Amino acid sequence: MALRKITEYPEEVLGKVGQPVTKFDAELAELCADMFETMYDAEGVGLAAPQIGLNLRLFVMDCEGVKLIAANPEIIATEGEQSSQEGCLSVGKVPAVVVRAQKAKLRAQDENGEWFEAEAEGYAARAFLHETDHCDGTLFIDRLPKLRRDMVVKRFKKEKRWD
Ligand code: NI
Repeated sequence: MALRKITEYPEEVLGKVGQPVTKFDAELAELCADMFETMYDAEGVGLAAPQIGLNLRLFVMDCEGVKLIAANPEIIATEGEQSSQEGCLSVGKVPAVVVRAQKAKLRAQDENGEWFEAEAEGYAARAFLHETDHCDGTLFIDRLPKLRRDMVVKRFKKEKRWD
């Protein structure tokens, strides 16, 4: 296993629609292990492949007891609404309130290529939605009103200069 470098806004790969995962082999399993390691090291609850520079539809998450690998993820149902703070490892974890569905149902393939469905609510549903968005080249800041988006980006850039 190895730590991967986390790509940060505004790197181009973060805005691209990911390519489907087609090979479910040892290389993919190793990639997922690296993604978990990188996510835990950064103290995140989810990490998508574009966040380590790969244009692939793949994410890992471990959030409120929901731990999974999702290749070729799709959100197949949502219900309700929640409004709470969200952040992203690629935007320096600068938080902002994002409106999301309260419940979400995910359909994806595991590391062996087996399709599965998973349901979650609250924070874990938020992770399903946030990480699936990454696979479509969408960042959480893209879902913010312009003024709030500008504020998050400004704070992120400021914090980066302090590093
Ligand atoms: Ni993110």
